[in-house]
Amino acid sequence: LPDLQDGPEPTVHTQEAFAPEDDFTAKWTRADARQLKRLSDPTAGSKQNSMPTSLTMPDVPQDFPDMSNEEVWVWDSWPLTDEDANQYSVNGQEIIFSLVADRNLVFDERHVFAKIGYFYRPAGIPADERPANGGWTYGGLVFDEGVTGEIFPDQSYSHQTQWSGSARISKGGEIKLFFTDVAFYRNEDGSNRKPYDPRIALSVGKVHANKNGVRFTGFDKVTDLLQADGTYYQTGAQNEFFNFRDPFTFEDPAHPGETYMVFEGNSAMPRESATCDAEDLGYNEGDPFAETVEQVNASGATYQIGNVGLARATNKALTKWEFLPPILSANCVTDQTERPQIYQKDGKYYLFTISHRGTFASGIDGPEGVYGFVGDGIRSDYQPMNSGSGLALGNPTNLNFAGGQPFAPDYNQPIGHFQAYSHYVMPGGLVQSFIDTVGTEGDFRRGGTLAPTVKIDIDGASSAVDYAYGDGGLGGYADIPANIDVNSGGKI
Ligand code: FRU
Ligand code: FRU
Ligand code: FRU
Repeated sequence: LPDLQDGPEPTVHTQEAFAPEDDFTAKWTRADARQLKRLSDPTAGSKQNSMPTSLTMPDVPQDFPDMSNEEVWVWDSWPLTDEDANQYSVNGQEIIFSLVADRNLVFDERHVFAKIGYFYRPAGIPADERPANGGWTYGGLVFDEGVTGEIFPDQSYSHQTQWSGSARISKGGEIKLFFTDVAFYRNEDGSNRKPYDPRIALSVGKVHANKNGVRFTGFDKVTDLLQADGTYYQTGAQNEFFNFRDPFTFEDPAHPGETYMVFEGNSAMPRESATCDAEDLGYNEGDPFAETVEQVNASGATYQIGNVGLARATNKALTKWEFLPPILSANCVTDQTERPQIYQKDGKYYLFTISHRGTFASGIDGPEGVYGFVGDGIRSDYQPMNSGSGLALGNPTNLNFAGGQPFAPDYNQPIGHFQAYSHYVMPGGLVQSFIDTVGTEGDFRRGGTLAPTVKIDIDGASSAVDYAYGDGGLGGYADIPANIDVNSGGKI
């Protein structure tokens, strides 16, 4: 990493583990997040990346191939996993779930029309021997029309969509699909008639795979698992723009027999009266670069109060869950800690979550990307990776210039500023993501397909992009390889 620019010192985090049910929430502090700017080169000129190469995804070419052969827009995607995040193929077929939407929509309209679709491809083929687009076959939608709308007491929704989650496979090919079931209640002009209603939900199905393809049965009923409680996790009554979604389940070897879930939430304060405190700021005593609590609370930063939630299953069928306190908060740091996951390596627990550049709070800036935190347990005093900044893998970004939007990229940004999002870290440090926008003002192409897979090497609290992987660091497009086949002596 480069020499750091002037700025505050990061907060001291011990990585110490606490019991999952303890009331300890690690803070991703402003002092931590301001390390992002300290890592950025203030002399980087127009269109240059100002962030360290070791934390930057290589450039995705603008002529990327499309994995669905232009059938659907594709974004957030997840594999079939077990309790340890191993990735499974079934009878020789790799299977992934993806949020998909009709290509006739403008890509940015996708969120209120999202449905869960699936893809499959033969397992065990090296990425460089597959078709350039990853060689997936689009299998269609998982749910029949109407199934995911049934759980909502108020059936007068304007839009009913399926948002991200994760999929667990078990004996006999049973699949537990955890996802976010969402109802919107919008007026014609897009404003809310009442707050949207996102619920963490489960549907159970069965996979049938052979050399000819993959289909599912079941997935005809949805169980409502969790709704934001207003105590740990902000509700629609507290903030109509609240975030509550993206369940990821796993087991913890330190607590055998229990199943846990992490998910995206917000700290449960009313939007207009939210405040951050000295712990959220996290400055060391006497730091000359410190801000005061009053300054931060007056800056508008209090609108960004993301957290990562924890829940524990209270039955074996995983149909009943209880909330535990959040494991991480990002109060006055960022509003969106999306698609969180727990990744275990060498006895350490890594919490990865994605954040947009545009959802950072006033006074904080960092690239679109995946951020990592390391500790000794699923609940611990998580230390943000890479000199305390948290950045694990970002898009090529110049923090000296404004960011623009995916539909209107800024002229001064590198062409990759919005190239990838919704990263998911897979076994072996492989990272998949989707392509959002590649290009610059006046010359850009929207994605809606999965990006090249890249690899990060994780070592304690540090990580670095492996530029020896694939072609200059870029592996195959949409490469989500299984590491276990169900029928070849795998764990299940
Ligand atoms: C308690 C406990 C603690 C340990 C933590 C690890 O349930 O085992 O002793 O610090 O959980 O997750
Ligand atoms: C920005 C975004 C997404 C989120 C959606 C909510 O595109 O904030 O991160 O899923 O919009 O509508
Ligand atoms: C990430 C995300 C998720 C959400 C989905 C909605 O790209 O914002 O948090 O589930 O997209 O489209």
